[in-house]
Amino acid sequence: MTKIEVIIDHIGAQGDGVVERDEGPLYIPLTLSGERISVEVEGDRGVLRDLLEPSSDRETPTCPHFGQCGGCALQHQSPSIYLEWKRQQVVRALAVQGIEVEVGEVIPCAPHSRRRATFGAMRTRKTLRFGFYERASHTLVHLDTCPVVTKTMEEALPKLATLVTPGLTRKGKASVAVTQTGSGLDVDVRGGKKDPDLALREILAVGAAEADLARLSWDGEILSERRAPILNFSGVEIVLPPGGFLQATQEGENALISLILEAVGEAGSAVDLFAGCGTFSLALARKRKVLAVEGAAAQCAALERGVNRFGPGVGLKPLTVERRDLAHRPLSTLELDKFEAVVIDPPRAGAARQFEELSWSKVPVVVSVSCNPATFARDARTLISHGYRLETITPLDQFLWSPHIEVVGIFKKG
Ligand SMILES: C[S@@+](CC[C@H](N)C(=O)[O-])C[C@H]1O[C@@H](n2cnc3c(N)ncnc32)[C@H](O)[C@@H]1O
Repeated sequence: MTKIEVIIDHIGAQGDGVVERDEGPLYIPLTLSGERISVEVEGDRGVLRDLLEPSSDRETPTCPHFGQCGGCALQHQSPSIYLEWKRQQVVRALAVQGIEVEVGEVIPCAPHSRRRATFGAMRTRKTLRFGFYERASHTLVHLDTCPVVTKTMEEALPKLATLVTPGLTRKGKASVAVTQTGSGLDVDVRGGKKDPDLALREILAVGAAEADLARLSWDGEILSERRAPILNFSGVEIVLPPGGFLQATQEGENALISLILEAVGEAGSAVDLFAGCGTFSLALARKRKVLAVEGAAAQCAALERGVNRFGPGVGLKPLTVERRDLAHRPLSTLELDKFEAVVIDPPRAGAARQFEELSWSKVPVVVSVSCNPATFARDARTLISHGYRLETITPLDQFLWSPHIEVVGIFKKG
């Protein structure tokens, strides 16, 4: 490794400082624009050694694991440049598609607000590690504290580590998805010992009771359910299936729903595409009939059960659930034209074929929600090319101190 002095030109898409060089960019994590630093360089990566002239925008990170743990990349940025940097990610993604529109201020998220996270777990002969991976590495950082997840999840970290240990293979790595539901923590472990025998099942069930979990599942199979993991979506109780989708923060979910309801206004019907367990469908169905379309059978079933049981009590308008693979069988323009509003919230890859059908439709309002500005912008371009206007665009932070940013775009036609 060679040690050199450089000045950071700007911050790249993953949150690393970037120095532009003739031979290509040099990426240096944990730095800020304009900082003069000494750095050890290997290829296109640099390791910060000395901060020679720190930026006035530098903050003291709150977490003792920051720098080593790959969960956060941006804790050293002051709040104002942090939010502006996230906003610029959206501006840039739109610019790549030639879309010029005023991008709103980022709706921020607070520390200790994330109610869902996937941790890694690993044991060797002597050690146990439970936490997040180092950046771009297979090395786990053992966490005893985390300022991002809810206090309940943070306090549960040692118990969760103890609970999963007997089910880990030597040196194998398991992933432990933890969701805070209304009735307690729901934990879904993947990649531990396969087909646990009776003795291990008992040990894990005892551990789940000691950690007071609502539910423990192992590779999708429920091993212990002391309380059904319940989510309240607009007054309807939904039992989250193992691995089912949930917006990362409660505040983020509320903000998304407000933006959606304001955009659809008085529309008498709506279709919610990539509906999950009905986060948006149920809010929409308080005032209009809704078709919820989702690919995962367990999520469709959870939504249907909730609607049948609680819908009449809360005065829900008719809500129909359709299980459908929207990547291979998108709703056609003809099917879409039956609705007065469309809400679409695809996975990170976007929904190129579904947006193509949508672009030809006459639906007056389309609300597009996305966790990936690049695919959002690509799909927005498809809508705009066929007569939709992008009226507002609001970035929303649900992944504090990470480079990720969520976007809500409101499109209108006619
Ligand atoms: C980003 S989540 C949105 C969920 C929901 N809108 C919410 O807020 O809870 C994307 C959803 O799309 C579903 N999905 C992924 N690929 C799909 C496909 N090819 N067809 C239909 N649904 C799919 C996932 O199961 C997941 O529920």
